[in-house]
Amino acid sequence: MDKKRIEIKNEADIVLARQAGRKMAQSLGFGPADQTRLATAISELTRNVIQYAQQGIFEICDQSNRKAIIIRVMVEDFGPGIADLDKAMEYGFSTSQSLGVGLPAAKKLVHKFSIKSKPGHTKVTMVMTRKRV
Ligand SMILES: Nc1ncnc2c1ncn2[C@@H]1O[C@H](COP(=O)(O)OP(=O)(O)O)[C@@H](O)[C@H]1O
Ligand SMILES: [Mg+2]
Repeated sequence: MDKKRIEIKNEADIVLARQAGRKMAQSLGFGPADQTRLATAISELTRNVIQYAQQGIFEICDQSNRKAIIIRVMVEDFGPGIADLDKAMEYGFSTSQSLGVGLPAAKKLVHKFSIKSKPGHTKVTMVMTRKRV
């Protein structure tokens, strides 16, 4: 089981995380569209970490089994947390005068998306999966 962990502290780490996502998707046989989807979702989440929590953790692992190819990504921070999660998941909601589409877009780009947040802790888990043929 392949696994990688990157501490997210600056723009360069966003690029590293993005590349790690693309690379794992490619090596597990996902097509270019899925590679880009995963990389884009990772960008949005790790950018949020920098923007709202200053720093955090990115983890990606290959959880494939006999039946399916599975990539799991976790992005976590110990920043302020998201006050209203339902609002944060809406298109156009932003507390920073930016576009407010990062979270809803990321959710659409991957196959499974879950987010948990409370004051002092935010954690997003995403999965890309494909049946074995
Ligand atoms: N890791 C985080 N910690 C705290 N708040 C966050 C985090 N990620 C997102 N948010 C909140 O959710 C809102 C929506 O995020 P997002 O959809 O990425 O849009 P944007 O970043 O453009 O505002 C943000 O404006 C912010 O208030
Ligand atoms: Mg954002």
